[in-house]
Amino acid sequence: MDRNAPIGVFDSGIGGLTVAREIMAQLPGERLIYFGDTARVPYGNRTKETIIRFSAQIVRFLKSQGVKAVIIACNTATAVCAESLRAELSMPVVGIEPAVLPGARTTRTGIIGVMATTKTLASAKYRHLKSIAPKEVRIIDCPCPGLMDCVEAGEFRTPHTMALLREYVEPLVEAGADTLVLGCTHYPFLSDAIRLTAGPGIRLIDPAPAVARQLKRRLDEPGLLN
Ligand code: DGL
Repeated sequence: MDRNAPIGVFDSGIGGLTVAREIMAQLPGERLIYFGDTARVPYGNRTKETIIRFSAQIVRFLKSQGVKAVIIACNTATAVCAESLRAELSMPVVGIEPAVLPGARTTRTGIIGVMATTKTLASAKYRHLKSIAPKEVRIIDCPCPGLMDCVEAGEFRTPHTMALLREYVEPLVEAGADTLVLGCTHYPFLSDAIRLTAGPGIRLIDPAPAVARQLKRRLDEPGLLN
């Protein structure tokens, strides 16, 4: 494998760009090929079989471009098919998952909200993540239908987006959450709007920086870091 080869990054749409941005900041020597499946977005309400099929097709394309590593910049696809992609590919595969553990470790009220797609929240991988979180922390799942569509449409702060955010975020804050985990790669595009809705003192956690750090480690081990 050539260290000068590009890194493949994919998502159902533009959400994974929030991960690509972190990779570019932390690993400026790397070239990225970004695949956003905007023709078939969203993945969040599709069947497991469909998400597996779409992801396999994208990975096949990325492989044809000669990538040295694959980043699944989609919580939904990671939850559903990270294991099968890892088994299939002989290169580093790094996924993304809601930052439940960092959130649970740092909350002061002992209550965190996890904003993600219905599919991610219903996955066995997410259930496992919750099962290993400290028992004294209350984790409130918050599926956010429609929010991803606002991002795809570039509606970062329109009345419709703000109304949806009030519907999803206000109950979390009212329940006492001081930490909101952004469990979908589209949502960091709405960080400002979410902060505005949640009010001061609420912490947002985006796992993208941790994904970039993990990628760096995974490339470093086999001498593939550029
Ligand atoms: N950006 C994706 C994620 O992180 C999913 C959005 C969707 O396609 O529903 O889960």
